[in-house]
Amino acid sequence: MKRVAHIDARKSDHIKINLEQDVRSGLTSGLEHYHFVHEALPELDLEAIDTSLILFGKILNAPILISSMTGGTEQAEEINQHLAEAAHVCNVAMGVGSQRAALQDPKQIPTYAITRKVAPDILLFANLGAVQLNYGYGIDECRRAVDMIQADALFLHLNPLQEAVQAEGDTNFANLAIKIESICKKLEVPVIVKEVGWGISMRTAKILASCGVAAIDVAGAGGTSWSQVEMHRAPDEFSRQLAAAFVGWGIPTVDSIFNIKEAAPEMTIFASGGIKDGIDVVKCIALGATLGGMAGQLLNAAAISSNKAVEMIKITKKQIQLTMFAAGVGSLKGLESVELLKH
Ligand SMILES: Cc1cc2nc3c(=O)[nH]c(=O)nc-3n(C[C@H](O)[C@H](O)[C@H](O)COP(=O)(O)O)c2cc1C
Repeated sequence: MKRVAHIDARKSDHIKINLEQDVRSGLTSGLEHYHFVHEALPELDLEAIDTSLILFGKILNAPILISSMTGGTEQAEEINQHLAEAAHVCNVAMGVGSQRAALQDPKQIPTYAITRKVAPDILLFANLGAVQLNYGYGIDECRRAVDMIQADALFLHLNPLQEAVQAEGDTNFANLAIKIESICKKLEVPVIVKEVGWGISMRTAKILASCGVAAIDVAGAGGTSWSQVEMHRAPDEFSRQLAAAFVGWGIPTVDSIFNIKEAAPEMTIFASGGIKDGIDVVKCIALGATLGGMAGQLLNAAAISSNKAVEMIKITKKQIQLTMFAAGVGSLKGLESVELLKH
């Protein structure tokens, strides 16, 4: 039970720090260097721009992912409810935060299951830390996480540095790939691997492709930095300085997309990490991603109300539509052949 109380306190800290402190990476996503050519004669009707797509058997109205964030506390339940309401109204994809708290304490199940209750049809992703496969978790826990929210797919997150800068972190990341591969083979739904804000290298992309993952979410550097979050909750000066040094660590989102494209050209890519608006989402798609995910920004909206979260997703969707219009591209598929300018 002590371990469960531990997770609870950590979840509360994470939400509070993300809402109240500056937890931005010292790096940028890299998207600011890429630009569409403006088309003064797009030869398109704005109303006919199609931002929809089909992914894992579900239709989405826009290529937007509410990235995995929370669950496991009362406040987290309310945030998950607001995010799921927004995902439902706007018909976009959503992930819940790590479900370990609920696997260890079934009382916490409703704080995650609320998402499926309010959003029965959305593309919904379960979430567990991949490292837990080295701490006793296996296919049963993955199945329980998926069943808990009737998820369409499972995110396994990779967060070695986040674990390493925490006094209580789970840091044995040895021989994990073979366990991820086994989950990919056995689980009934697709397995997607994500980082949490430090991006994906070519080496990691190659390994993940050989494990048989269905997609990789880059969660690159440029947005929320978990070493900054952990710095703010450090119990002593030693831990604070340890975490603070990593403010500029990681592979920016754009570089991570390129790394996956190079190392695993067939891989489905989700882009996240410092995506600030719909223009960024469309840039990521033109660079090779299928979806653009946002976490930190949506947390701030959902902490206020579901209306705020709906508003933010609606604005993002409209920005996506306008970007495609002004770039002269009528569909997401058409973005595959668009060349961005770099400067
Ligand atoms: C409050 C908060 C909690 C998060 N918890 C999780 C988590 O439990 N599991 C996970 O895979 N990622 C988690 N993330 C990471 C996000 O899914 C995302 O990869 C990362 O924050 C980068 O996106 P951003 O720059 O838009 O915030 C969390 C992010 C935030 C802001």
